[in-house]
This record gives sequence, structure tokens and C-alpha cells, in this order.
Amino acid sequence: MINISKPVITEKDIADVTAVLRSGMIVQGPKVQELEEKFAEYCGTKHAIAVNSGTAGLHTALYALGIKEGDEVITTPFTFVASANSILMQNAKVVFVDIDEETFNLDPSKIEITDKTKAILPISLYGRPYDQKINEMGLPVLDDACQSIGAEVGDKKSGNLADISVFSLYATKNIMSAEGGMITTNNDEWAEQCRRFRHHGQSAQTRYQYFDIGYNYRMTDIHAAIGLNQLAKLEEFTIARIKNATAYNEAFAEIPGIITPTTPAGTRHVFHQYTIRITADFSLSRDELREHLKENGIGSGVYYPKPLHLHPHFEKMGFQEGDFPVAEKISKEVLSLPVHPSLTEEEVQKIISTIQECK
Ligand SMILES: Cc1ncc(COP(=O)(O)O)c(C=O)c1O
Repeated sequence: MINISKPVITEKDIADVTAVLRSGMIVQGPKVQELEEKFAEYCGTKHAIAVNSGTAGLHTALYALGIKEGDEVITTPFTFVASANSILMQNAKVVFVDIDEETFNLDPSKIEITDKTKAILPISLYGRPYDQKINEMGLPVLDDACQSIGAEVGDKKSGNLADISVFSLYATKNIMSAEGGMITTNNDEWAEQCRRFRHHGQSAQTRYQYFDIGYNYRMTDIHAAIGLNQLAKLEEFTIARIKNATAYNEAFAEIPGIITPTTPAGTRHVFHQYTIRITADFSLSRDELREHLKENGIGSGVYYPKPLHLHPHFEKMGFQEGDFPVAEKISKEVLSLPVHPSLTEEEVQKIISTIQECK
């Protein structure tokens, strides 16, 4: 079976994790510090703050931005639930705005700002950087960069596109530490708030003095050891993803009913997912194609089968069908194909020919 994702784990990872266990410095120690320093250097930001998941990072970043009860935060309904849930964790209100069907992300032309809007939370979905027009709207921008490590706009890297950004290092991400997350920002005050919040409201200098509410969102050195090895391979992984995506784009360009993903000029899409749209002009429905791929030993994914606002969790808040028509349409068309760096050329060719034979 060709899997939709496959974490790369090496003998060096096993040796480095073992060395951490033998060292006795297991949590928030030298490996975490080294990972933070290397992340900040890679992204070109002043600060990188490690946490134990992308969700913890989003919650922490919203706290640092001062988001609180009664505030409204704009985000997209076409994503994983973590971003909207983080807004709810701060007792703030989720304001969904529909997506653009080409970018799969927040459509800036649909954003309406009110007195209560306190931040915008775009998602750099599938590894494509969010629309930078969002940075011109006069509000703090938190980039959910959980899927976009290594992406670029001009000479700026993901992690340094917004006021504050959050990466996930979950097992299937472009780089991973099994579980983990990283917050990046150039703002000294927010960075300090993040460091306190991840550690029960204590600052690193003053233990057992509690300044405000906080959580245990600390990363372990065991995880950081894996993250460091992965970060060293990020460029190699990213180049392989882009190569696979380019091969698919060329192969599917002329097939009626397949819409391939685009990369705007001057940006770098890092293809956490390679996601095509299957429209009515294709010979099979999206789900029939998925089944056909499965019968041929090819895994695929649907990210995401239903927009957030149509789940009971959000319907309770008054959202209903028809609220975000583009997200609703796109969720019925998207299909993600394996694009990970461990794919062989033969596997990529097999995926291409299995789809081409359906046209
Ligand atoms: C877009 C997006 N946001 C947030 C998250 C949450 O990250 P984590 O699973 O590390 O908490 C993920 C990944 O799962 C994600 O893909």
C-alpha cells in the first residue's frame, strides 16, 4: 500500500532519543532550547517558543494577543478543528468567513471587520501561504502555519509572514517530533507571554511566582531531539514534495474534471498535502476515484470532508448549511494524493497512471 503519509524515522533519531533519556534532562532542557534557536534562525524571527502541540501553540498565541471573552476572531471553516477550538478556549467568538476556491483559504474580499474583531487567524492550508492582503487589514494576524513549514512569500519564510505564527510537529507533518508545536514572533512582549503561559504563568526567571493563568504546554527534550534531526532535513524533504507535486501537476493538467493546485508567483508552496479537485466533468465521482485508488493499493485522503460549521459542535452556535457555500462545495471535491518525500519515482508514476486510466 502507498500510504498518504509516512514519518521518516532514522537510527540517528533512536540514538539521540536514547541519549536524552540517559542524560536525565528530559523536559524543557538543552534540546528544546536548541530547537527553539534553530527554528527562529530558520524562520528569520526573533523568537521561537516550543510547546507540546500545534493546538497548544494556537491557544498560547491567542492568549498572548490578549484575546478574551467577548472578542471575535475571524477564521476559516475549511480546516482542522484546532484553530476554531483554540479561539473557544479563550472564550472568544469564532467568526467564520468563506474561502476562495483556488486558494482553499480565507478570502480577504469576504472579511468584514467590526468593533469586536480583535484578530484574524488564516490557515496556510496544505502548505500554501495565506493571502498576504490579510496583513493589510489593521488587525493582528495569527498564521496557523501548522501545515506550512518551509513555505515562502518573496524573501520571507512561513513563521515570519504574520505577527505571530504557529507550527505543528505532529507525526504526519512536513517535519515532526511525534507531537509538538512551535510559536514564532518578532514581538518581545508576546514571546514572554507565551513562555509564561506554557508553564503555568511562571516566567523562566521567577519559578513559583504566578503572574496569570497558564497551562502545562511544555515540550520534552525527547521530542525536541527528533525535531532537531527533522529540521536538518527540512529542505531535502521540501524539495522532494515539490518535485512530486510538479510531476502530478504536469500529468493531470489536461484531464477534464481534475483541477490541480496552483502556486502564486513569488511564493513557495510546500505541499503538506497535494490536493486536487474532482468536478462533475471527471469520469468518476471523487469517492469512486478514491475507491479505485484503494483497489490499486494507493492511499488518499479527504481534508476535509465537511466544513467546520456543519458539525454539531458549531451548529449549536447557530451556523447552518448555506452559510459558507464555497467551503461546502470544495469539501465535496477535494482529494489529497500521497506526496511525501519517501515516495519512489515508480510509486509516483503508478499514482499518475492509475488516475490517467480513468479519464
Ligand atoms: C491546520 C492545522 N491546525 C492545527 C493543527 C493542530 O496541530 P496539533 O495536532 O499539533 O495539535 C493541525 C494538525 O493537526 C492542522 O493541520
